[in-house]
Amino acid sequence: MVSLPDNSAAPAIEVRDLVKSYGGVTAVSRVSFAVARGEIVGFLGPNGAGKSTTMRILTGCMPATSGYAAVCGLSVAARADEVKRLLGYMPENNPLPEDMRVSEYLHYRGRLKEISRKKLGPRLDEVLELCDLKRVRHRIIGTLSKGFRQRVGIAECVLAEPPVIIMDEPTIGLDPHQILIVRDLIASLRGRMAMIISSHILPEIEMTCDRVIIINQGRLVAQGTPAQLRREVLGEARYELELAGPDTGLAALLAGVEPTLKIAAVAAPDADGFRRLTLTTANAAELGEPLLRVLASGSRRVRALTRLRPALEEVFLAATRQGWEAANAVPGNARPRPGNEPV
Ligand SMILES: Nc1ncnc2c1ncn2[C@@H]1O[C@H](COP(=O)(O)OP(=O)(O)OP(=O)(O)O)[C@@H](O)[C@H]1O
Ligand SMILES: [Mg+2]
Repeated sequence: MVSLPDNSAAPAIEVRDLVKSYGGVTAVSRVSFAVARGEIVGFLGPNGAGKSTTMRILTGCMPATSGYAAVCGLSVAARADEVKRLLGYMPENNPLPEDMRVSEYLHYRGRLKEISRKKLGPRLDEVLELCDLKRVRHRIIGTLSKGFRQRVGIAECVLAEPPVIIMDEPTIGLDPHQILIVRDLIASLRGRMAMIISSHILPEIEMTCDRVIIINQGRLVAQGTPAQLRREVLGEARYELELAGPDTGLAALLAGVEPTLKIAAVAAPDADGFRRLTLTTANAAELGEPLLRVLASGSRRVRALTRLRPALEEVFLAATRQGWEAANAVPGNARPRPGNEPV
């Protein structure tokens, strides 16, 4: 295990007012966030949002134009060598040496990470087991499938048990079975290492991460737990209801349960006379029980009532759309539309 610097109360990652410009393109624009020790954070954003750029700055691979980035309280710009010892980094399109064998490569990386010869042997066995690489340990990396190469990258990342892991799209190109393995692997490291993981696979992020940060066109547009983001970005709860009986007085009945409760959509009745209604409300509290009480009385009948959980996709789309709209609300700040941003 890598020993931590004295200021171990500092967050695992801290970014303040980070800016990165590539000539005329501002890839990262005044981004600030922190990742606590042991926390797993999903880093989301459309293509070209600035995720890889932020990660490269954090790992000391590239300098920022301005702003502050620190790992375990150490400034990345001022103490890059020490910071590198605290990090496991899996870059985008993780380049690996084609002609080395898996265990040979991991052994070499372990020595570079200053793991003693005595500890390295048992640790390699552990990591090969953890990443399900035992059966390919003697294979030449160049002959491995993409999924196995990804696992070699992840194995290298966790090898020295650093307190902070940064993985740029670790599951890109993996089949669903391998995605599950990587998800379990990340979950098994929960609490032991802080992690920031970028991905476009939103259900995976939702299942693995404690918190999500969304950036769009270089700006941070939302952060929080998936539940907080649903509330803050979508701003409402939704219910789906299958109801038979008269329409008259229904709106008033719903308003009696919660004044902001509205009927958003009604489907035609089926053969049994049940219609599917979608209700929306600005109140995030659980309204299922009072709804059932008032609706199932009198001549109305309820066959089903479900609180709908919007997928993280909806939150992502709304947050990136809102970010774009906010940027364009400032006069003179003409930015390209989402989907038409610089590539
Ligand atoms: N070396 C570079 N030189 C010039 N511009 C760059 C360079 N690297 C990235 N950019 C630009 O910076 C912006 C952010 O790119 P970045 O790779 O950080 O995005 P990303 O969020 O990782 O996207 P993706 O999801 O496609 O991986 C893009 O507009 C990109 O074209
Ligand atoms: Mg990227």
